[in-house]
Amino acid sequence: MSGSWHELIAEKDFPEEGKLATKIKNWYVLVGRTEDGLFAVNDRCTHQAALLSNGRIRRGMIMCPLHGARFEVATGVCVGGAYRDLRTFPLRVEAGMIEVCIPDIEPGMEDLPVAF
Ligand code: FES
Repeated sequence: MSGSWHELIAEKDFPEEGKLATKIKNWYVLVGRTEDGLFAVNDRCTHQAALLSNGRIRRGMIMCPLHGARFEVATGVCVGGAYRDLRTFPLRVEAGMIEVCIPDIEPGMEDLPVAF
């Protein structure tokens, strides 16, 4: 799937709490920081579409706040709960700016959270 890079925020301004939820071209994106670095995932649990940005990030995983599914943030693999893997987005830092590559297509219903 092809995508386009979008500047998000200067790395030095990334929130202390280690996560930032945003919307880019109708995609809900959660950018977070772990011990292993920055990551970007679709801000939507694959179980019942809860916002993962309300969940806790710990040891390379994000936990869904609704029923506790856990996803590996680097790969999107669901490691706690038998749910579909999470969509991840490529991320890079260019000249101090965090950039995320977002698909050129519109998100489908299976990509959108329910809390909006
Ligand atoms: S909505 Fe995330 S585990 Fe159920």
